[in-house]
Amino acid sequence: MEDKIRVLLTEEEVNSRISEIAAQISRDYAGKHVHMICILKGGVFFTCELAKRLTVPVSLDFMSVSSYGDDTKSSGVVRIVKDLDEPLAGKHVLIVEDIIDSGRTLSYLIEVLKQRGPEDIRLCTLLDKPERRVKKQVKVDYTCFTIPDEFVVGYGLDYAQKYRNLPYIGVVEQ
Ligand code: IMP
Ligand code: MG
Repeated sequence: MEDKIRVLLTEEEVNSRISEIAAQISRDYAGKHVHMICILKGGVFFTCELAKRLTVPVSLDFMSVSSYGDDTKSSGVVRIVKDLDEPLAGKHVLIVEDIIDSGRTLSYLIEVLKQRGPEDIRLCTLLDKPERRVKKQVKVDYTCFTIPDEFVVGYGLDYAQKYRNLPYIGVVEQ
């Protein structure tokens, strides 16, 4: 049976907000080189759209961690499935995530990446669900949208690996 998907944020809304955040990041990193770390797979659409709009020099690396199965609930277990290709020493690292939910993935990841000697680490997310936060210490530097506690898909986010390619953010109606 087809899932019913209600539009929460249109493609135009998402893209115009990404442009705003990109301008802010470009100002904050003026004179610096940003090393973007895309968290696969969900962060890939957002990373591309953000990177295209940055006016400072950019390099990209990719990492895949798993904290969820094909379900809508967190297992609480974080595992590195694919590690970075490049070292981080001396770099201005910008982690790019699709969504911060419980914060478990990012609190773990930030600790791991800090050990690799970057100059600094900031966190940028397309979506934030603060009501669901378990790891309250996770500091988000750039948030495109704060959303209510609903399961969303599109723009990289999936439900059982489906809907990542939707150009908007929608809520799966159960
Ligand atoms: P956290 O560790 O609980 O913060 O979960 C982060 C990860 O869970 C995200 O990177 C997503 O892959 C996934 N996730 C959390 N909420 C949603 C959602 O509403 N839709 C799709 N994926 C989600
Ligand atoms: Mg993710």
